[in-house]
Amino acid sequence: MIGTDLDLAARLLREGKLVAVPTETVYGLAANALNPAAVAEIYEVKQRPSFNPLIVHCASVDEAKKYVSNFPEIAEKLADKFWPGPLSLLLPKSELVPDIVTAGLPNVVVRVPSHPILRELLNKLDFPLAAPSANPFKQISPTKAEHVEQHLGDKIPYILDGGSSEHGLESTILSLVNSPPVLLRHGAITQEEIDGITGSLNSAIENDKNPQAPGQLKQHYSSNKPLRIYRDLAEELQRFKDKKVSVLHFGPNELQGDFNYQLSETKDFKEAAANLFKYMHIADADKSDLILAPRVPEKGIGKAINDRLGRAEH
Ligand code: TXA
Ligand code: MG
Repeated sequence: MIGTDLDLAARLLREGKLVAVPTETVYGLAANALNPAAVAEIYEVKQRPSFNPLIVHCASVDEAKKYVSNFPEIAEKLADKFWPGPLSLLLPKSELVPDIVTAGLPNVVVRVPSHPILRELLNKLDFPLAAPSANPFKQISPTKAEHVEQHLGDKIPYILDGGSSEHGLESTILSLVNSPPVLLRHGAITQEEIDGITGSLNSAIENDKNPQAPGQLKQHYSSNKPLRIYRDLAEELQRFKDKKVSVLHFGPNELQGDFNYQLSETKDFKEAAANLFKYMHIADADKSDLILAPRVPEKGIGKAINDRLGRAEH
């Protein structure tokens, strides 16, 4: 059931049930992070391998500090600048965090989200929320309550509706376990913005066997239909002239497929990011045989967009 009843959502969570919640990035599938049985249910519903740990969403910076055993100076600076907001930090976990949340790892990812409805919900609760994106394992992340309803509606008691996600891409994940910090996932906060505070970062993203971010699978965010990234759209349209194609465009283009979706007419990265998963969902459901997707310039949020498209290609 989709609705906007915060008291109902809070009650279900207190009872150890799952509730899909809006965040400023994508919708999350939330449970009481301090209740191992409730967290186990997330893995079950999402059909997610149990070696893939979950992000702990906290009401405030002070709350977040309770769930880590060390909050270094650099974390203070980043929290000052980006929290509440779409930055997730990997830090050594405190004893309060059940092992099932971190899949047995000694470190935990925490973030303080900025979505006003989720903040109101967190303020009603006396525990943080463990939540992965609310999509079945490997599928496209949800940016609207209806996306969650479509895939998980019959498996969870409530979907809290908070409108379309503002950023439309998951949070940026930064490991502060070692110095210097290591970027584990490109996301809504750009690498350049973080560099401004930390100095230049190491990136673990290109390393496919990266043990620090077990969820960063090479294939992820997948549509049911094949998705191909194009460099030369004319060539691809020619190659698939016997098929029906859906094309995601970044900026105006005279070349058109059978179905066309504009990520951003003005080539605005933020707008394109916010539209990406929404149009992937729509293109997956239209009458085409495959989806052609662009590669955008590799700067700012463009890196996160290319990362998600790269993992979606199949
Ligand atoms: O924007 C977001 O971050 C969304 C919203 C709901 O907050 N959440 C999200 O969660 O994208 P999820 O589970 O789909 O992706 C979290 C990523 C996974 O790749 C996971 O492996 C990694 O973070 N991660 C979480 N906890 C970790 C830990 N303790 N150590 C290493 N990686 C961790
Ligand atoms: Mg996810």
